[in-house]
Amino acid sequence: MVRARITGTGSSFPDKTLTNADLEKMVDTTDEWITTRTGIKTRHIAVEGEYTSTFATRAAEKALEMAGVAAHEIDLIIVGTITPDFPFPATACLVQDNLKAVNAVAFDISAACSGFVYGLSLADKHIRSGTTKRALVIGAEVLSRVVDWTDRNTCCLFGDGAGAVVLEATEEGRGILSTHIHSDGSYWQLLHQPGAGSRNPAVQKTLDEKLVYLSMQGNEVFKLAVRAMEEAAHEALTANGLQVSDINLFISHQANRRIIDAIGKRLGLGEDQVFINVHSHGNTSAASIPIALDEAVRGGRVSDGDIVVFDAFGGGLTWGSALVRW
Ligand code: UT7
Repeated sequence: MVRARITGTGSSFPDKTLTNADLEKMVDTTDEWITTRTGIKTRHIAVEGEYTSTFATRAAEKALEMAGVAAHEIDLIIVGTITPDFPFPATACLVQDNLKAVNAVAFDISAACSGFVYGLSLADKHIRSGTTKRALVIGAEVLSRVVDWTDRNTCCLFGDGAGAVVLEATEEGRGILSTHIHSDGSYWQLLHQPGAGSRNPAVQKTLDEKLVYLSMQGNEVFKLAVRAMEEAAHEALTANGLQVSDINLFISHQANRRIIDAIGKRLGLGEDQVFINVHSHGNTSAASIPIALDEAVRGGRVSDGDIVVFDAFGGGLTWGSALVRW
């Protein structure tokens, strides 16, 4: 049976960081509030000349290097992002050009913080069907460009960066065992960017009314996220006849330490099973899971045969999980 196996991981961030102490000087907030409510201490912020494709490309290059795969061997590039370089063409096409991945088909997925798991699910199906041998799945964001830096409710939460994986077809019996993706569009207003699309085009009025900035009803999203991610994790385990105790590493979307802790508690996960890096990156939306995976892999937290579960939730609403035998 053909499966998709992750053979390389990579991540990339801006060099510039913004700490909670820096934010204290910008809006009415405190390190204490941000730390206790979110677990975030610092985040990376892009500077002039750095775009979503910049970090997506660098993360992809590292993943290709780890996999020992040349760019021209890639058949498919999927970028999960809600902060593309341009409305069109797709950031994946810019990455394709940067890498000179001349044989790939490239497109973006807009599934907010679930973008990486959605991309993984799609690439997995391409590989299982035999139409694709090698794929790059990337989560990449420059959220700092859609955040209102005068709004303390949102500006302390987000960060920039990218994570990437190389997937290769294998018959070894390991790799992605299953993926499970879901959406509920009836909640779209809870987390969205009102402006710069066809409804509120990028004209002066849209800028004046601050519609270009991300809008989130945090408290509602928090409750729905915990419930949906708990269900998605169970769904992945049930589909593979596994128990919570079989999980070696649980990598959930890194939006808020309290959300990750709540899911861990509800699932009955031990601290050593859960990977957390939200303190050093903030919420990087679609990039958060592949960044965490890359840090886990390079930090020696993942060994051959390990069961790794990805669990995502984001605007749309979208959510989903993937279960991997490493
Ligand atoms: O990534 C995709 C999905 N996104 C998420 O999963 C995010 C989910 N939501 C969250 O992480 C949390 O809801 C937040 C971190 C956004 C907010 O935490 P909360 O504990 O839900 O706080 P809250 O929204 O209930 O606000 C509590 C208070 C408010 O003040 P009042 O109205 O009670 O006086 C806010 O104005 O905290 C205030 N507040 C702040 N105070 C200091 C909000 N942001 C700040 C801040 N500094 N930065």
